[in-house]
Amino acid sequence: MSWRTRANIAWLRGLSGVKEAEPLASRTSFGIGGPAEFFLELVRPEAIERSIEGACKRSIPYLLLGAGTNLLIADRGVEGLVIRVVNREHEIEGTRVRAGAGLKMMRLARIVADANLRGFEFAIGVPGTVGGAVYQNAGCWGKELREVLVEAEGWVPGVGTRKWKPSDLELGYRTSALRDGDLKGALVVSATVQLQRGDGEEAKQLMARLTRERNETQPIKTKNCGSVFKNPPGDSAGRLVQAGGLKGAREGAAAVSTQHGNFIVNEGGATAADVKRLIERVMVEVKRRFGIQLEPEVEMVGRWK
Ligand code: EPU
Repeated sequence: MSWRTRANIAWLRGLSGVKEAEPLASRTSFGIGGPAEFFLELVRPEAIERSIEGACKRSIPYLLLGAGTNLLIADRGVEGLVIRVVNREHEIEGTRVRAGAGLKMMRLARIVADANLRGFEFAIGVPGTVGGAVYQNAGCWGKELREVLVEAEGWVPGVGTRKWKPSDLELGYRTSALRDGDLKGALVVSATVQLQRGDGEEAKQLMARLTRERNETQPIKTKNCGSVFKNPPGDSAGRLVQAGGLKGAREGAAAVSTQHGNFIVNEGGATAADVKRLIERVMVEVKRRFGIQLEPEVEMVGRWK
């Protein structure tokens, strides 16, 4: 039976601040995707938890959204409830920093440098939020969140508030129990990282240098979703795409970046279907040429059929 009963729709419409048929494209770094059937933007974890609990009780599908930097949302949008998590508070206690899931990693990188803390410079290359970084153990320049994470606070439907140690989260290369395991559907409320005392100016200089480097190698000023594929063990997806002659390949207004083979760029008006077709074409060609099965890092969500 469909969840779309009169009572459930009435419950959704009664949620404080809810919007119906809310466009999502502008809430993703790709600038692609259809609307959320119902959309909430919430700061307070308790309010987010109550909404998820209500949705679960009614079997209404829900999607938690951060900065939308690693998502490809279907052109037909997302059914049920989309909740954009925007709790952006942070607390610094000595060398430990607790940050709300809605805070951007890049912003946190600057905040901790201002507080003369070191060890978080890599986050200047991570476009998403703290919550998104926990969700997929985000990283850059060979460093990952799990190297500094000491605890994440979360909330599991039907279970309640949880304090997770990194080992509880099964963090791996661009994966976690939240993305691919038992904790699917759980909410990340905050993350606590352990940093070291140091010279904030040096941290800022390092971050400026890393950003310049990223600017030279990645199309960071375009609409994209970051790396499209995970790197296969011992190799690089970007290298394989280039070797397969696929740089510049296009479907509609979606094109493989000529700068970095593991990026797809929305050149203006690309549809999710364009991007999906291009992803599939690249996978088929890399498999045919090199026998390597690429695995998308970008997460495809919403109504594809
Ligand atoms: N390469 C090519 N052609 C290309 C692109 C890359 O030959 O078109 C080669 C490079 O010359 C290099 C190797 O492939 O020898 C690796 O490339 P790069 O240093 O650009 O890093 P990457 O493995 O493609 C990873 C992360 C990025 C992160 C960078 C920088 C993955 C999937 N990607 O990219 O993360 O910014 O390292 O540390 O692990 C993201 O996850 O969204 C992301 C952008």
